[in-house]
Amino acid sequence: MAKITFDGIEVEVPDGSTILQAARQIGGDIVPPAMCYYSTLKGSGGKCRACLVKVTQGSAKDPRPMPKLVASCITPVQDGMVVENTKNPEVLEVRKGIVEFLLINHPLDCPICDQAGECDLQNFAFKHGNVRQRYEEKRRTFETVDLGRYIKLHMTRCILCYRCVYTADQLTNQRVHGVLKRGDAAEIGTYINNVIENDFSGNVIDVCPVGALTDKTFRFKSRVWFAKPVDAHRNCSKCCGKVVLWYKGDEVLRVTARRNEYNEVIEFICNECRFETKKTADWVIEGPRKIERTSVISQGQYEHLEKPDFQVKLAKETYKQIDDTRIHQQDQMKLIGKID
Ligand code: SF4
Ligand code: FES
Repeated sequence: MAKITFDGIEVEVPDGSTILQAARQIGGDIVPPAMCYYSTLKGSGGKCRACLVKVTQGSAKDPRPMPKLVASCITPVQDGMVVENTKNPEVLEVRKGIVEFLLINHPLDCPICDQAGECDLQNFAFKHGNVRQRYEEKRRTFETVDLGRYIKLHMTRCILCYRCVYTADQLTNQRVHGVLKRGDAAEIGTYINNVIENDFSGNVIDVCPVGALTDKTFRFKSRVWFAKPVDAHRNCSKCCGKVVLWYKGDEVLRVTARRNEYNEVIEFICNECRFETKKTADWVIEGPRKIERTSVISQGQYEHLEKPDFQVKLAKETYKQIDDTRIHQQDQMKLIGKID
């Protein structure tokens, strides 16, 4: 085990853990943001620099600070290491630059993007970015590409995090897309055949941190914050069958895998569950899904689905309290002679 101090908090983690894993063990607001790291995908991390932190003491044996900020998602901990994130002004300043860099080519088309409201880049920019951008050159633009029956690629929005490539590589046996070309010409593509067809291909939509890979069966149907997420499951021969159904009225608009507090898929699901099974009768409903993140979806407007009686009781109690306060105020005013 190695003991490190992260933002003044001591934590003990297994040898070989990364700084980001140690921070996640502590949890809360001190955890660095991550746009490319994905705990369940081998090789992920080290692409976006969103998670940079300052190592002010390398280890107990060699207490010298590391000369540059390091990517916490790929830097292993050393016993006695001291790391600063939210408490270090240099880190906070550099993070603004990272946002600016990621937004150089990313269009600000949130009003028409299906990912808006659950977009990691939107949240990252909102929390860490500057209001202004200095970039004035011509931006990269791409035509949208249909990748088969279910997926549409908006390459213009891609931040080249490689998550979809690792997902297809590690989850399916026939990855047909990847990052073509290099440097500022790099792009996600299928090269010959513009189709991603296999039973688990839909998961690339869930892992994409931005709206570059979208679900064609859901596109433009609703803003996510108007949909009500509900946990449900079914017996599926291909995957765990545990999903989130996104309702609008009685209609299931889309089906996604369940995600944890870091917006990472807990268990991947198959295309049959995601795209082909969209009737309530196909599912066993478990109850409303609580979205823990600081997201517009988690405003709790759907909680009455679980506990209607509790909600009604709460509303009655609230109204009674308001009434009591009003009566009390009237009594007070009578006392001081303001009303009869
Ligand atoms: S399409 Fe999405 S998941 Fe794939 S590299 Fe681009 S941003 Fe990452
Ligand atoms: S999350 Fe660490 S570099 Fe992207």
